Amino acid sequence: MKSVFDDGQRPTRQHGAQSPSVQPFLKWPGGKRWLVPELVKIIEEYDYVTYREPFLGGGALFFALRPHRSVLSDINSDLINTYRQVKNRASALLEQLRPLPINQGTYDGLRECCPKSPLQRAVRFLYLNRTAFGGMYRLNQQGKFNVPFGGGERTTAPLWEYDLLTSSARALRGAKLLTVDFESALSDAKKGDLVYCDPTYTVAHNNNGFIRYNERNFSWEDQKRLSRSCHSAAARGALVIVSNAYHREVFDLFGPPRHIAVARTSRLRPDVTHRRSVDEYLFVFPPREAGKAKRHDRGRVHEK
Ligand SMILES: C[S@@+](CC[C@H](N)C(=O)[O-])C[C@H]1O[C@@H](n2cnc3c(N)ncnc32)[C@H](O)[C@@H]1O
Repeated sequence: MKSVFDDGQRPTRQHGAQSPSVQPFLKWPGGKRWLVPELVKIIEEYDYVTYREPFLGGGALFFALRPHRSVLSDINSDLINTYRQVKNRASALLEQLRPLPINQGTYDGLRECCPKSPLQRAVRFLYLNRTAFGGMYRLNQQGKFNVPFGGGERTTAPLWEYDLLTSSARALRGAKLLTVDFESALSDAKKGDLVYCDPTYTVAHNNNGFIRYNERNFSWEDQKRLSRSCHSAAARGALVIVSNAYHREVFDLFGPPRHIAVARTSRLRPDVTHRRSVDEYLFVFPPREAGKAKRHDRGRVHEK
């Protein structure tokens, strides 16, 4: 097993010896549960002290690994508030959520309200997340959640029927939760850290010309900042893994040290006839000895 430790530092846990995974309590667009087995294969080669996830979302990899010590962050303050309430007040959240009926009227009432207390904000967030159409998260120009009611099978019940909140609260015990931009989060990464970055994608998943989209949420400039931050963190000795769109310009930006292409089936279109296979990149920046690149850092490429 390769080590990413400072001399004298001991691991709080090694990847292979972890307790059972927990299912994420949120339904999150772009969630990476499907990619966890692939990520675990890479991570198993290393051990680490602190796990960092600067684009937390639903935290699929965090809940799969359940690290003892972690720093979890996202730019979405409502999301981070919800994690804090789950970590510290899971029972109070469940008490408030359970009596809420699942119907259009309750949904509309919660969608329109702006509660002030952190607990009430988290109740609203969890209810909308579980009952919104297609599990989407979308804000309008004024920053208000504007996804319609999902109806059908959508319900908050798995949060208590499968103990999602209480098991998540246990998994979050050793987690520091921050609302920050990724650059600030990555600037703290150092030797002994494992960092998984799963940004909002900027470009379409194809090679037919460079289609830019999502400039408002995550621009090409943000991608450049991310690439620089990842290289710096790896140079300080952290192991950094980045998910990104399978696109030539993305490859050129993040490029080797070492990259791996993975495939997935898109769930964007629920009707089976329109499902298509979509490729994504996984870039791996192995931790570097200060000042020199290891042999496998130079252009080792894994591609399908
Ligand atoms: C694709 S989602 C992450 C999904 C997550 N890996 C999962 O398994 O659910 C991307 C996340 O990045 C966050 N994000 C977007 N821009 C950001 C920024 N500049 N800094 C930090 N987080 C950001 C979004 O709020 C969103 O939660």
